[in-house]
Amino acid sequence: MDETANTANPVISKLEEKDVSSAVAVAGHPLHAMSVHFPIALVFITLAIDLLYWWSGDPFWLRAGLWSAGGAFFSGMAAGAVGTVELLSVAGIRERVASWAHAIAAMMLIALAGLNWGLRVTDAAEILPHGLLVSILAAVMTGMAGWHGGKLIFDHGIGLMVTAKD
Ligand code: HEM
Repeated sequence: MDETANTANPVISKLEEKDVSSAVAVAGHPLHAMSVHFPIALVFITLAIDLLYWWSGDPFWLRAGLWSAGGAFFSGMAAGAVGTVELLSVAGIRERVASWAHAIAAMMLIALAGLNWGLRVTDAAEILPHGLLVSILAAVMTGMAGWHGGKLIFDHGIGLMVTAKD
């Protein structure tokens, strides 16, 4: 790799000014990156479950949707709690607008996941059409929050834990 090109890159130079590495990690593995897969998968699974219920009318999918939507909400809260610690405690992450944009999109997604679970706990009859519509919205927000989270890593170099190992 051409090291001269790296130092000439303004993004790489900015990364050297303030720490942007993950503060919450287990044995060098950032916890937020490990935990976001659960809400992402469960939001999309909930949408698939709602479509299967719409198609089949089988009440099994109502029970499955309740658990899946609950899993999406609580795993989203857990991932969000870790993300919030990263955002507030690491100076280089805190000072980037992109980090806050991701946090706002993620909080909207978590709120939608909570609404989706709450609908199912209180009234299963609400699933068609309201639950399905909230599932679609949550899937769109997950796409936005997840895509933007990825940009934080790959475009902005945030949350990496670079060591001297080869
Ligand atoms: C309040 C809520 C959240 C905050 C403040 C937050 C903050 C952050 C921060 C600071 C990063 C940069 C990497 C790091 O420091 O760990 C990040 C990465 C990321 N976030 Fe979040 N996050 C939140 C919730 C979520 C949720 C619910 C999702 C699921 C859609 C998500 C998806 C991602 C993804 C996919 C990455 C890139 C991880 C990777 O590819 O390694 N975040 N987030």
